Amino acid sequence: MKEEIRKTIDQIRTAMSKNEVEVKSAKIEERLYGTQHYQSAVTIMTYVSFHNEVGTRNIMSACFDDGKNVVVPICGPNYTLLPVKIKGFEDLEPGTMGILEPTKKKVIVDINRLDLILVPGIAFDRMGNRVGYGLAYYDRFLKKFSPSTVKIALAYDFQVVPSVPHEKHDQVVDLIITEKEIIHCQ
Ligand SMILES: Nc1ncnc2c1ncn2[C@@H]1O[C@H](COP(=O)(O)OP(=O)(O)OP(=O)(O)O)[C@@H](O)[C@H]1O
Ligand SMILES: [Mg+2]
Repeated sequence: MKEEIRKTIDQIRTAMSKNEVEVKSAKIEERLYGTQHYQSAVTIMTYVSFHNEVGTRNIMSACFDDGKNVVVPICGPNYTLLPVKIKGFEDLEPGTMGILEPTKKKVIVDINRLDLILVPGIAFDRMGNRVGYGLAYYDRFLKKFSPSTVKIALAYDFQVVPSVPHEKHDQVVDLIITEKEIIHCQ
């Protein structure tokens, strides 16, 4: 069931044009900047978008411009994610699965310093349940945080589905931002 949703939604996303990705990502970004969560965050962790994921390059630029600390994940051993601070795009190089990662000076940030985490995913339901790439990287990572760290998923409207099957290990997000709306989960 999870696998079916993963396949179907991923196919739709893969078929998006570059323009559609840009236009929708821009709308999602604007909604994000309007949130109190973004405005008050000092340190933001974000995924580095690849393929047709909701783009995060402009968000990272905005964070640099706004003087926020920018933290991105690197893949560690045993499907773990490590939060690493970057100073600029020049710190990124292709890493695991070809996703850009900081590969040189890896300054691992204390997870207690993260105010906001932008979470990628393939599908979500309005309760905040999430389908990712199926390796549980984010499930292992997100379970470390207290509710005071806000978890926001960035997703296209078609990625929000009526219901996502979830298991005990699955972690939820607090908000989902799409090009059409902000969903406050739960
Ligand atoms: N903490 C954990 N330790 C070991 N295995 C786990 C853990 N959490 C989940 N798994 C296993 O990992 C597999 C994939 O989990 P799941 O389908 O939820 O991934 P996902 O949320 O789609 O992936 P991701 O978080 O990487 O985007 C499942 O078979 C699950 O049992
Ligand atoms: Mg999961």
